[in-house]
Amino acid sequence: MSIRAVVHGIGRFVPEKVLSNADLERMVDTTDEWIMQRTGIKERRVCSDDESASTLAIAAAKEALEDAKLAPLDVQVIIVGCVTGDYPFPSVSCLVQEAVGAKKAAAFDVGAACAGFIYSLNVATAMIESGQVTNALVIGADALTKFVDFTDRSTCVLFGDGAGAVVLRAETGTDRGVIDTVLLADGAGAKHIDLQLGGSKYPVGRPYSEGKRPHIFMAGSEVYRFAVTAMGDACCRALQEAGMEASDIDLFVPHQANLRIVQSAADRLGLPPEKVFINLEKYGNTSGASIPIGLYEAVKAGRLKQGMVVMTVGFGAGLVWGANLIRW
Ligand code: ACO
Repeated sequence: MSIRAVVHGIGRFVPEKVLSNADLERMVDTTDEWIMQRTGIKERRVCSDDESASTLAIAAAKEALEDAKLAPLDVQVIIVGCVTGDYPFPSVSCLVQEAVGAKKAAAFDVGAACAGFIYSLNVATAMIESGQVTNALVIGADALTKFVDFTDRSTCVLFGDGAGAVVLRAETGTDRGVIDTVLLADGAGAKHIDLQLGGSKYPVGRPYSEGKRPHIFMAGSEVYRFAVTAMGDACCRALQEAGMEASDIDLFVPHQANLRIVQSAADRLGLPPEKVFINLEKYGNTSGASIPIGLYEAVKAGRLKQGMVVMTVGFGAGLVWGANLIRW
């Protein structure tokens, strides 16, 4: 009997501090109307100086473990999709391991930007389905606002901070679990979204790093054009691989970057509004956290229930993109 990777618990954390469009109107030359029309975002959550990717990830992880009623010592691997780790090293996953007391777990981060949760879920699923582990903690966490230039209106209105986590457990004799995953990448698009300073090419404090950007750069319209095609393509491919139709999807939980991108993906699949989960008005683009936060809120709102088929899809810096089909 084949082993399935089934979601047994879910958690979420967002910082308390709210940054509204009205706040941004006082900081840069923008308006609530422009931001709402072009993105659908009304407000976002922003880390305090004391918060970072690990504090968000730890809070979400603790809730997911409690929800799954899983003892931390029974977690065998922690995988965190994150591109805004506290440090280049150690990884956020090691900080989570210590904080939750998962002393027996392996721990590593996955760098796939806004598709980080999709990639991480796939790695955990493969480890479970191959029999390597029984219990995995998978987290999407990012603190993008720490790297945003709050004088650049083209990026500072888009991003927010947060984390979401799921516990995946091996089960047999069930049709629940991760059904199919599609992972894609195109490094030719690396130049469209980047953070130049702070890596090994341009380390902080070196003369040859002078003049390099310490903030997120994004060629918005290039990324927009890519995303509109990529989101739909990834979903269609996952459905095809699974031998399913778009009408089999009970709920669509896409990466919450921009309402227009979400709507074009939903239209391509022919999904009615009641099957599309949207919360980007509250959080903006939280990168790797956006999909697990969406799944969490869909569960809490009663829109995602055991046995339903949920499709997630995301895209981001790399460029990377992908989709998961899960029977919840
Ligand atoms: N307020 C007012 N005007 C603005 C703002 C703002 N906040 N930002 C840009 N503008 C102006 C521009 O300067 C431009 O003015 P111009 O025509 O005089 O030059 C005009 O608005 C139109 O700008 P565009 O960039 O063409 O606007 P567009 O409709 O493409 O929307 C946006 C921009 C929202 C960024 C869109 O391109 C987008 O969502 N792109 C995708 C971004 C994304 O989802 N990235 C995810 C990956 S992030 C990651 O992985 C970390």
